[in-house]
Order: sequence, then structure tokens, then C-alpha cells
Amino acid sequence: MKILLLDAQACDVMRTQLADLLLDALGLGGRQAEDHWQDVRAAVAAGSRRLLAASHDGTLVGTVQLDLCQRPDGRRRADVQALMVHSRARRRGIGGVLLRAAEAEARALGRDALRLAAAPGSGAEALIHDLGYARVDGAAGAHVTYTKTLLMPEAA
Ligand SMILES: CC(C)(COP(=O)(O)OP(=O)(O)OC[C@H]1O[C@@H](n2cnc3c(N)ncnc32)[C@H](O)[C@@H]1OP(=O)(O)O)[C@@H](O)C(=O)NCCC(=O)NCCS
Repeated sequence: MKILLLDAQACDVMRTQLADLLLDALGLGGRQAEDHWQDVRAAVAAGSRRLLAASHDGTLVGTVQLDLCQRPDGRRRADVQALMVHSRARRRGIGGVLLRAAEAEARALGRDALRLAAAPGSGAEALIHDLGYARVDGAAGAHVTYTKTLLMPEAA
């Protein structure tokens, strides 16, 4: 399996596979899926987001996004978003590999303050917990928020 960093052109080339993955993993299809990937492509092109993809034998099996905070006081922050693995490829460690790859990318960009939101009962919680994310208590809404401070090379 390979982890790829997709640029805007790669988003275009892989459009069909990205749409299939979003439908399979998060149940988003049609216009919603088109809008999602268009927004991601624009943010990737603008440099405010990284899109990492797991590919096995040329087939896309999962993705994760890293949204880079653009506020002047948020230069060390990034949100891990839309971690998803195709249902055919789950429980083989790909979600963990993707999350670690997103962390490595954040570290390389000097972003050590990560945030992540997960739906309770999504199955992601054990994975997130194992990788050292701490649950933020008191947050309302359908998702639970987690944070993690990465150990940076200079602090290691
Ligand atoms: C959550 C998701 C990304 C996990 O991907 P994955 O490739 O299956 O994850 P991994 O194989 O790396 O799992 C690592 C560990 O996480 C835990 N885990 C993963 N999926 C789980 C599930 N459905 N139920 C309970 N624990 C689960 C297990 O501890 C697992 O280790 P194990 O298989 O040795 O028991 C995948 O199920 C998915 O795409 N779900 C739909 C989208 C989603 O909910 N994304 C999360 C947003 S934060």
C-alpha cells in the first residue's frame, strides 16, 4: 500500500474513485459529493488543505484531509478531517496508517496542535484513542472533538 499526497490535478484524475469512496464510507453521493470534492480541490490548490490517499494496487482505499488553519494566530493548528477507509478494506490497519501519515504531514508543516471530530460509535474512537488523542469534554453536537499535541522534532 502507498500513501500519496494528492494535488489538485490528482484530484481531477481520481475524481471517480474519490466519489466512490465518499459514497461507500460516508454515504455521500450525487451533488453533495461533487460539492465536497470541489471544495477540497479548491482548498488543496490554494494550499490550505492537504489530501492524503491510501492506494493499494492502483485502487484508492482511503483518504484523510488536513485542514491548515489560516488565521494569523493559528499557524500551528490543523484539523484532521474526513478520515475514511473503503468498507472492503477496513480492519487492516489502513485507517491507522492514514492518521499517522496526516500527523507526519502536520509535523513537517510545523503544525503541532491537531483537532479531530468523530461521530460517537463510528468505530473511529478506539483508533483515535490508541493514537493518543484526548477527548474535549463539554462539546455539544453530533460529533465528539479530540485534540492532540504532536511532539515536534526540535522538542524530541
Ligand atoms: C473509522 C475508519 C476510518 C477505520 O478505518 P480502518 O482502516 O478500518 O481502521 P484500522 O484497521 O486502522 O483500525 C485500527 C483499530 O481501530 C479500531 N477500530 C477500527 N474500526 C472499528 C470499528 N468499526 N469498531 C470498533 N473498533 C474499530 C480497532 O481497535 C482497530 O484495531 P483492530 O482491527 O486490531 O481491532 C473506517 O471504519 C471508516 O472509514 N469509517 C467510516 C468513516 C468514519 O467514521 N470516519 C471517522 C471520522 S474521524
